[in-house]
Amino acid sequence: MEQSAEKTAEPRRLITVFDTTLRDGEQSPGASMNLSEKLEVAKALEELGVDVIEAGFPIVSSGDFESVLEISKTVKNCSVCGLARCVDKDIDAAHDSLKVAVRPRIHVFLATSAIHREFKLRMTQDDIIARAVEGVKRARNYCDDIEFSPEDASRTEIDFLCKVVEAVIAAGASTVNIPDTVGYTTPQEMYDRIQTLRNRVPNIDKAAISVHCHNDLGMAVANTLSAIRAGAQQFECAVNGLGERAGNCALEEVVMSLKTRGDIFLADTRINTKKIVPTSRLVSQITGLKVQRNKAIVGQNAFAHESGIHQAGMLRERTTYEIMTPESVGLLKSDLVLGKHSGRAALADRAKHLGHELTQEQLDKVFVEFKKLADRKKDVFDVDILAIIEQSIHDKKTEGESIDRYWHYVGYELEIGSEKKPLLKITLSQNNENKTVEICGEGGPVNALFEAVQTATGYQLVIREYKVDAVSGGPDAQGEALVLLEEASAPGVIYRGHGVSTDVIEASIMAMIGAVNRLIDGQTPTDA
Ligand code: KIV
Ligand code: ZN
Repeated sequence: MEQSAEKTAEPRRLITVFDTTLRDGEQSPGASMNLSEKLEVAKALEELGVDVIEAGFPIVSSGDFESVLEISKTVKNCSVCGLARCVDKDIDAAHDSLKVAVRPRIHVFLATSAIHREFKLRMTQDDIIARAVEGVKRARNYCDDIEFSPEDASRTEIDFLCKVVEAVIAAGASTVNIPDTVGYTTPQEMYDRIQTLRNRVPNIDKAAISVHCHNDLGMAVANTLSAIRAGAQQFECAVNGLGERAGNCALEEVVMSLKTRGDIFLADTRINTKKIVPTSRLVSQITGLKVQRNKAIVGQNAFAHESGIHQAGMLRERTTYEIMTPESVGLLKSDLVLGKHSGRAALADRAKHLGHELTQEQLDKVFVEFKKLADRKKDVFDVDILAIIEQSIHDKKTEGESIDRYWHYVGYELEIGSEKKPLLKITLSQNNENKTVEICGEGGPVNALFEAVQTATGYQLVIREYKVDAVSGGPDAQGEALVLLEEASAPGVIYRGHGVSTDVIEASIMAMIGAVNRLIDGQTPTDA
């Protein structure tokens, strides 16, 4: 498949892929997921072929605990991991949530750098070693697979780091993870650090070395690859590079670098690379965090050749400008798909390619919306299908469960003109009862609909972000509205809503209702 893969005959080490999309990735502002969304991502990660899924930080909230528990029950083909500080109650909660997992892993961490010791923990080096050893031993009483992370390892004195690593391995850690918590290190420095640990820690062969790189200086992937070259056996990553601040190391970039430059790295993973794009789309869809167009591997332009010279070269010989094929990462050639004569099977098949394995019930709902759209729009693109899936499954998944609490959109009428105030009438329903509100707005129509949603639902809200984008090109494109809002009485907790329609006013009302329903749900707050 890839040109350089053919060049090397040397054996390649298999590197463990530890995915933290559901833990560190979920810590990205605005990326919080509810239980069913996390389960969907966990299933996709299992299909993608990651070795370890870090499912959450169970002590943090009952929602986190429950998600780790449910993922532990569901996932069978990879390890499921829960994060814990070196604190008894954290480790106990991690164990309780992982008990049912086929392959549980407890991940304990404690900061080791001088800055963290002095200002955050107020602990001496000896205290740190004692607490780390205690934490690992407690976790080890519960399960055999224990990972320890010296947080801020890249800024920790190397002699002390070696001592900590030796002590936690002796206490029973089977993986030692070296985090570049603040994205400060460089490829050479990371290489030297891993080499030093391998050369100086006497019991290093009793544990696997892992790395966990943040992207603050844009070097997370380069640092990770450098650690692998230096002998690391595991790397930690998130789909689309999600994560705190500038994010974590992007799973897809390391996986495809190892595949494409096997001649240099002599390493590979078990990832089914054809699932990369569908998984990326699923994660982006669920978190509402768009992938930048020119992002490596999964960006919309990653395989687009615009200039005439490139196109001419490609037509003669694809490898002139292409180092891996779009098919190898699961990108289908054409994105023009269905129309109003397409049937259920074609829709289900296309949804599968886009990362969504729909149940019969989900397919029924999506099909109804698809038909409505196909009547209004000649060409239905992948992005349209993804938008419908998001709208009819993720935003309305609670229908039929406890429908009473949630608001639903029924319809609207709007009178508008350059010389008059907008007059808006919207009808929503809750508990099968319609509620109609009429507003004569002071500002524009968006202001009016925002006021109307507040009046109808009874919540005092503040909009933190509101935007409308076209889902695809052309005058009949669907509009996609995204809104982040908070309750006026509880600032700092952000709720996300998303709406899609060929009518942008309708899309905006749906987005606002989606955010209100998340607020009602109360399970998925995102700390700002
Ligand atoms: O960035 C970090 O240091 C972490 C640890 C908990 C591994 O996320
Ligand atoms: Zn991290």
